[in-house]
Amino acid sequence: MYRSYWCLKEKPFQNTPDSSYLYLSSQHEDALMKLSYAVAQDLGCGLLTGVFGCGKTLLGRVVLNNLGKDRYASAFINSPSGSEPAELLRSIVRGLSPQSLPEKKTEIMADSMLEKLNNILLDNIRDGKRNIIIVDEAHTIEDPRIFEQLRMILNFQQEDKFLLTLLILGQPELKDKITISKPLEQRIAVRCHLNPFSEEETGKYILHRLKISGRPDPSAEIFTKEAVKFIAKHSGGIPRRINTLCDLVLMSGFAKKANKIDQDLVESVVKDFNVT
Ligand SMILES: Nc1ncnc2c1ncn2[C@@H]1O[C@H](COP(=O)(O)OP(=O)(O)OP(=O)(O)O)[C@@H](O)[C@H]1O
Ligand SMILES: [Mg+2]
Repeated sequence: MYRSYWCLKEKPFQNTPDSSYLYLSSQHEDALMKLSYAVAQDLGCGLLTGVFGCGKTLLGRVVLNNLGKDRYASAFINSPSGSEPAELLRSIVRGLSPQSLPEKKTEIMADSMLEKLNNILLDNIRDGKRNIIIVDEAHTIEDPRIFEQLRMILNFQQEDKFLLTLLILGQPELKDKITISKPLEQRIAVRCHLNPFSEEETGKYILHRLKISGRPDPSAEIFTKEAVKFIAKHSGGIPRRINTLCDLVLMSGFAKKANKIDQDLVESVVKDFNVT
C-alpha cells in the first residue's frame, strides 16, 4: 500500500527467502563461496551456522538457484527433528526423485530405502545432475540416530567421489550438537558462520533492498543516517528483524506523509507497534 508513495515496484522488506534480494555482505559472500565450492568439488558435507534470522535458509536456496534447475536434484529438509531416521530417508528420496515413492510410509523400510537412494543418486548423476541434500534447522535434532543417518548417507561414494553434497544448516548450538556424531563431524569439509550485521552493513543492506525493489538509484536513500543507526541497534543487526521494522516504518512514513524516515519516526514505530 505504500509502494507508489516511496517509488517502489515491490515491497522491499518481505521476510521470504527470495534470492533476488540477496545482499552479499562479506560473510554471506564467504559462506556462499564455501558452500558452492563444496558442491562444485564434491567435497561431501558443508556446515552453515548462524543466529536466527541471519540468512541461512536464504543462502541454502541461493546455492541451489545458482546451479540452475536442470543441473541438480535436491531434497530440502525443513524440520528434521520430529522424524524417525527412516522418515528422514524417505523425505530425502522423495526430494531427489519425486516420482519414485509409493504414498504409504509403512511400505518402506530403511534398508530398502538406502538401496533405493543409492540407485537414485547414480541415476541423477548419469542424467548430468548433482545430488544436493539440505538439512535446515538441524540444531533442533535431538535424536543421535538422525545424525547417524546423515553420516550413512555420506557413505554413498564412487571412485573416491561423493555421490551427493549434504549441507547442514542451523543455529549456533549446532556446532556443539553435531559432535554427538564424531564420524559425521569429521566429514564436514567446509564450515561457515553468519553473524549479525554491523551498523554499516545494516545501512548497505537497507539500501540494497530498496534498490532491488525498484527505488530509482540516486534517490534510493530514504532512511537518514540516524534512523539506520537506531534500526541497527534495535534489530541487533539481524536481517529478519531489520525487515520487520523497516516494513512498518515505511508504512508509518507513508501514513504520516513523511519525506524521509528519520530516527523519531523509527522510535515511534518501535513504541507503537511494540517491535521487539
Ligand atoms: N544476506 C541477505 N540478503 C537479503 N536478505 C536477507 C539476507 N539475510 C537474511 N535476509 C532476510 O532475512 C530473512 C530471514 O533469513 P533466513 O530465514 O534465511 O534466516 P535463518 O538464518 O534461516 O533464520 P532461522 O535460524 O530462524 O531459520 C530472509 O527471509 C530474508 O528476507
Ligand atoms: Mg532458517
